[in-house]
Amino acid sequence: MAAGSASHFNVIIIGAGAAGLMCAATAGYRGRSVLVLDHANKPGKKILMSGGGRCNFTNLNSTPANFLSDNPHYCISALKRYTPQDFLELVDRHGIEHEEKAPGQLFCKDSAKDILNMLLTECEWAGAEVRLKTAVERVTETDGGYRLRTGSGDLTCDSLVIATGGLSIPTMGATGFGYRIAEQFGLKVLPTRAGLVPFTLHPELKEQLAPLSGVSCPVDVHCHGQHFREPMLVTHRGLSGPAMLQISSFWQPGDSLAINLLPACQIRNDLLELRKQRPQSTIGQYLGQHLPKRFAQAFNELQGWSGPLQAYKNSDIDQVAEVLGQWSIKPAGTEGYRTAEVTLGGVDTRQLSSKTMAVLERPNLYFIGEVVDVTGHLGGHNFQWAWASGVAAGNSA
Ligand code: FDA
Repeated sequence: MAAGSASHFNVIIIGAGAAGLMCAATAGYRGRSVLVLDHANKPGKKILMSGGGRCNFTNLNSTPANFLSDNPHYCISALKRYTPQDFLELVDRHGIEHEEKAPGQLFCKDSAKDILNMLLTECEWAGAEVRLKTAVERVTETDGGYRLRTGSGDLTCDSLVIATGGLSIPTMGATGFGYRIAEQFGLKVLPTRAGLVPFTLHPELKEQLAPLSGVSCPVDVHCHGQHFREPMLVTHRGLSGPAMLQISSFWQPGDSLAINLLPACQIRNDLLELRKQRPQSTIGQYLGQHLPKRFAQAFNELQGWSGPLQAYKNSDIDQVAEVLGQWSIKPAGTEGYRTAEVTLGGVDTRQLSSKTMAVLERPNLYFIGEVVDVTGHLGGHNFQWAWASGVAAGNSA
């Protein structure tokens, strides 16, 4: 391939998101001529909307155990070779102020724009070009590379990197393009579904929980042998908050969730003790001590618990403790890709090199970021995967 001609680049990356920009800077610093293409009018739209506009850009405690994949060992190598500390050093070098909002979760102090600007600056310094509003219509193989037909003419490259993300938030430019390219080149794409997404409820339950809307409380939610102890938020649409987003990645349609509303309490012992010490006190009062007032009151009414504890037999207390410790909720579904933070599933990693992210049988075609079947827990892990996989490919492409 004639390197140096106007339309030829060593590396073309499709997708100017987190993974694509990181890959572009890395490859550019190696002296490769790099072009990043995106069909959107702006780069990194998801970075800008992430973390409530402040981008939870990494998690200092990120380990491979924080990722879901059909091939769980795949992510280990890249995550080890580009760590949260490495990204933090980059952030510090750019003088971006940050704060640890929850253990390990690093957010920008000011705005997610800082992270995007940092990546664009790195691309500029590395000589990588970012070209927006460019849709790729067709990708074909050439002798030793690829040809891309775009709305503004043909481009060729030695290495092609697919960094087009998953299906979540279509209004932000998400497409299934990466999966189609994978299939075009004979790769298996594992079924995709929305992850880190709020639950919807059946109308009757939604109505019952309406008085709890807007209230958040710390819970321990269980499903499929997984559990997360984080806040839950009842909304007018259903259940959200970190606990529900986390468990949604493990939930399958038809499953029930078991929610411990008082994870810090020994509920049964507390109630037995309370009945002994203050027999006139009520379950509502007990709940009021441990849950937000409005939640306590509404939940108590929902369950129809009334009267003093002395009227409760041991078996009644067992029942109350079970409801509070394992409140069983069967969601109707999830809000789907419309609001999901991530897409589970994607390009099967068994066909990719864990060292370079390249297709094993096609070492000049790479898949990075969310388009592959590696999905992180909530809390900065997904960006860490985007950075680590972007660097791995950028060091090879
Ligand atoms: P990403 O989606 O970032 O980029 C893909 C790019 O490809 C986009 O620019 C898109 O326009 C482009 N593209 C798609 N199809 C194309 C086509 N056909 N042609 C050309 N270009 C195409 N994670 C985290 O760790 N911390 C957080 O705080 C958050 N917060 C958060 C909030 C919200 C609301 C969402 C939706 C997601 C998060 N995430 C997150 C998840 C995180 O945003 C996500 O994992 C990464 O952005 C994935 O990076 P990628 O580069 O793989 O895809």
